[in-house]
Amino acid sequence: MKSPIPDYLAEVLGDSAHAVEGAVADYIPELAKADPDRFGVALSTVDGVVYAAGDADVEFSIQSISKPFVYALALADRGLDGVLAKVGVEPSGDAFNELSLEPGTGRPRNPMINAGAIATHALAGMAGWGAAERMERVVAGLSEFAGRPLRVDEAVCASELETAHRNLALAHMLRSYQILDEEPTAVVEGYTRQCSLLVTTRDLAVMAATLANGGRQPVTGRQVISPRVARQVLSVMTTCGMYDAAGDWVTTVGIPAKSGVAGGLIGALPGQVGVATFSPRLDVHGNSVRGVHLFGRMSEDMGLHLMDVPAPSRSVLRKVRTFDDGHSTAIVFQLQGSLGFTTAEVVVRAVVESTERTDRVIFDIERLQSVDRVGRVMLLEVVRRLSLDGREVLFLDPDGVVPDPVPGDGGAVRVVRTREELRAR
Ligand code: DON
Repeated sequence: MKSPIPDYLAEVLGDSAHAVEGAVADYIPELAKADPDRFGVALSTVDGVVYAAGDADVEFSIQSISKPFVYALALADRGLDGVLAKVGVEPSGDAFNELSLEPGTGRPRNPMINAGAIATHALAGMAGWGAAERMERVVAGLSEFAGRPLRVDEAVCASELETAHRNLALAHMLRSYQILDEEPTAVVEGYTRQCSLLVTTRDLAVMAATLANGGRQPVTGRQVISPRVARQVLSVMTTCGMYDAAGDWVTTVGIPAKSGVAGGLIGALPGQVGVATFSPRLDVHGNSVRGVHLFGRMSEDMGLHLMDVPAPSRSVLRKVRTFDDGHSTAIVFQLQGSLGFTTAEVVVRAVVESTERTDRVIFDIERLQSVDRVGRVMLLEVVRRLSLDGREVLFLDPDGVVPDPVPGDGGAVRVVRTREELRAR
C-alpha cells in the first residue's frame, strides 16, 4: 500500500497555492532574486520518518530559523543562567529588527528578535573563544540538528553584510550595555553567516523534530541537546517565534514555531512531529504567507494545536480484577500506555477506592510503555502507603519498565518477571 500522507501533503500544498499575497524579502539584495513560486512542505515524525511534497529538496538560507537552534547551543554551552543574564524570554510585541531592550539592564527581550539573536550568537561555544572557533561550533551544531553537514551561502552572506547597518547598530547598542563584551562587527559577521546556512525544507522538518523529540535527532539517534534545553527553546518559540504575530499564531495554529525571511517556517509539536514549509513571499511581520496558511490548515486537519487537550487518560487502567480464595483477597490492577501525572492520578484514585479490604495488591505493568519521573514517584508512593497499611504489594514487570523500584521509608514491593512466578505466589 502507498502511504496516504505524502498525498495529503501534496493536496494541502495545492490548496494553499492560491495565496500569492506578500513579497519576497528585498532588504538583502541576494534574497530578492528568489523564485517566489517555490513551495515545499515536509513532516518528520519523532521516530525519524520524513514525508515531503513540492520543493522540499530545494536549498535556501535558514535566516532567522537559525535563532532557536543557536539559542539551544548557547544554553548547552553556557547554562540557563549564563544565557538569561544576557538575553530575556519575554515577547517584545515588536518587529524582528527593533531595538527591543529591557529598560535598566539593556538585555534584549528574547533570543528570537535580531538583538537577542546577535547576543545569543556570541554565547555559542565557550567563553573566550574567538569568532572562527565559535562559528565552527555553530555550523557543526546546526549540522547535527540537520543530520548532514550544512554550508554557508557566501553570496547571501556577503549581500546581507553589505546592508547590515541596522544589525550593526543593534550590536553597538548591545556593546554599550555590556551585553556584548567584544567587537560588535565580528559578532554581526558571525550572526550573518549563521543566517546564511543553506537548508532544505526536509532538513528543517528533521531539525524541528529534534526539538519536538527532547533534543534527540530522530534520524541519526544522536542526543544533540538535553531535554531541558529543548523545553526552554520550544517555550520561547511559542511566545516569541512569530514576533509581533505570536499571539495570533498561538491562538490559531498553536504550534511552537519560527520563521525566516528566505521563506522557511518550522513548527515543533512536543512529542509528536516537526513540520517545515518553504515559500518566499512574506507578510508584514516577515513570515511566509503560504507557510502561515499551510500551517493553519495542517493544524486544523491533523489536530495539532497545543491546547487541544488529549483524550482523557482513564484507559491507563486496562482491567481491575479481584480474587478471594476464602483465606485472603487480592486485587490486580492491569495498567497500559504511559504513566505520567494525569494517568497516575487515575491509578491512585482506583487504588484508594478499591483496596480497603485487600491483603495483596498486584500491579501488572507488562503493558505500560513508558513511565515518566512523576509517574514513577506517584506509583512508588502508592506502594509505600499500601505497605504501611499492611498490604503486600507485587509488580508483574517482565521488561523492567519500572527499574529499581525502591519505595520510600516503610514501603516494600516484590517484583516478579513472569505470570507463572506470580501464580506460584
Ligand atoms: O537579521 C536579519 O535581518 C536576517 N539575517 C534574519 C531575519 C529573519 O529571518 C527574520 N525572520 N523572519
